[in-house]
Amino acid sequence: MNIIIFGPPGAGKGTQSSFLVENKKMYQLSTGDLLRIELKSGSKLSKKLKEIMDSGKLVSDDIINDLIEKKISEPSFKNNIIFDGFPRNIDQAQSLDLMLKKYDQMISLVLNLKVDKSILVKRISGRVSCSVCKKLFNEFFDPPGDASQCTTKECINRHLVKRSDDNEGTVRNRLKIYEESTLPLLKFYEMKGVVRHIDAMKSINEVTNEINSILTNL
Ligand code: AP5
Repeated sequence: MNIIIFGPPGAGKGTQSSFLVENKKMYQLSTGDLLRIELKSGSKLSKKLKEIMDSGKLVSDDIINDLIEKKISEPSFKNNIIFDGFPRNIDQAQSLDLMLKKYDQMISLVLNLKVDKSILVKRISGRVSCSVCKKLFNEFFDPPGDASQCTTKECINRHLVKRSDDNEGTVRNRLKIYEESTLPLLKFYEMKGVVRHIDAMKSINEVTNEINSILTNL
């Protein structure tokens, strides 16, 4: 089954995707993570990407669709993908439909994480991750504690990393773009009858339990 995990910046898409990877052995396809890997390459493209991402704007659909097709066409991920941060607009959703059709797949479920706007800036500004295992924490809601909170022995040498686009100015722009370009996608998927709404104001564990119960009762 392919799932889209949907919601504004800071809703908990990455956090919940990592539980699905751990518990359901799904493949997480995060366009944000793929772009951040590209940023580290130091290529000419990476400089352009950094500028766009640090401003909170969307990267061009061509670049994104290319990244996505490489993964969708991978036989070992077939019908077992969580799309995290994609699609972000109607054009991307239509391209996704075409690509899935080409590789004989479909979207079975869209999990809409509903969160009040007022909490998002705090969730994003408090976000840190482990430099070794990449586990996400939050200085306000899920403190990183010591390395025993992480997932590998090597995390003893960890440092905590903040994303360069996690600052208040960029976040407000990301939220604006979400409302203008991404939120209208919900209607697109509601018409296909695949959307389930989740109260993502609840604790991380409660949200995970709600997702598990939806998956069990599908
Ligand atoms: P991307 O990396 O996709 O960022 P985003 O969509 O803005 O989402 P975030 O990663 O900020 O939030 P999240 O919902 O995953 O929350 P998380 O689980 O981390 O995109 C970054 C940029 O890349 C974009 O701005 C754009 O430029 C570009 N880009 C990416 N995809 C693109 C595309 N398809 N097209 C064009 N451009 C694209 O949680 C946040 C924090 O809250 C964490 O600290 C976590 O511990 C905490 N938390 C989570 N859940 C809870 C809870 N229930 N209670 C309390 N705290 C919680």
